[in-house]
Amino acid sequence: MNAQRRQVIAGLAAATMAAGVPLAAFAQKKKIVLGFSQIGAESEWRTANTESIKSAAKEAGIELKFSDAQQKQENQIKAIRSFIAQRVDVIAFSPVVESGWETVLREAKAAGIPVILTDRAVNVKDDSLWVTFMGSDFLEEGRKAGRWLVEKMKDVKGDVNIVELQGTVGSAPAIDRKRGFEEIIKTDPKFKIIRSQTGDFTRAKGKEVMEAFLKAEGRKINVLYAHNDDMAIGAIQAIEEAGLKPAQDIIIISIDAVKGAFEAMMAGKLNVTVECSPLLGPQLMQAVKDLMAGKTLPKRIVTEEGIFPMEVAAKEFPNRKY
Ligand code: AHR
Repeated sequence: MNAQRRQVIAGLAAATMAAGVPLAAFAQKKKIVLGFSQIGAESEWRTANTESIKSAAKEAGIELKFSDAQQKQENQIKAIRSFIAQRVDVIAFSPVVESGWETVLREAKAAGIPVILTDRAVNVKDDSLWVTFMGSDFLEEGRKAGRWLVEKMKDVKGDVNIVELQGTVGSAPAIDRKRGFEEIIKTDPKFKIIRSQTGDFTRAKGKEVMEAFLKAEGRKINVLYAHNDDMAIGAIQAIEEAGLKPAQDIIIISIDAVKGAFEAMMAGKLNVTVECSPLLGPQLMQAVKDLMAGKTLPKRIVTEEGIFPMEVAAKEFPNRKY
């Protein structure tokens, strides 16, 4: 709620209370307006995330102004400015990249509109520019992927050559998943990342970049580490087209745990996926309501997640919600 609106409401609330009308009854009349800037529709994960936010807003009776940025930061900045101009009560967004948000977040703060970060973090000096950040611990996801590989390869004596498909350049998950994974594998010098390139979190780019990796390195590749399932699924196609067996000739590790990954695991083509839950909608709507009720939110709300190797895929599949 912006400063002006808060003042008007405070005044009205005081007047209604003085007239004997309970504050709760007064508060019920106003529908909360939430402006949400989504990154795009680059992956199965993102589609599930959008669906979760839209359905949770409906369920919570919150008016949602939804904007799709098509993976461009400039579109997200435009959307946030438009939310400010429309004087929404709360702004939430999933930032496509980490840096470059200072100016627009200062504008939101000056307008008295609280900002919630969902899924991805921003890199700004002044933490008061956002209220809370809810989402996964990407660093830990990278570590989980690394730990799984170290255990899987513990008896291997020679070099383990890894190719890496990174997420969107400059995005929080790409930075942290790389860092977390490297932190673990560097404990044993046999693990070598021989190629690393962005696949922008999409299937098409994942396939394209994997084709290039295979052309350059061929059978030298022992492991593929993909920062999301979509890129891994694209890469699986490239591996098969090159006449190799995914998950056998090349061990494949990815992140998200979307249904597509479970299908790939059940078909014996993907070894493991680390969970990253997109179902942030209900949590976000609760946070919006809490904010509007004047509650203080924790600065960080971390999503609890697991890891699913191919051996448990068939058993887990019926429980998957995305
Ligand atoms: O920010 C979360 C990441 O973004 C997911 O892992 C990826 O699939 C999505 O596009």
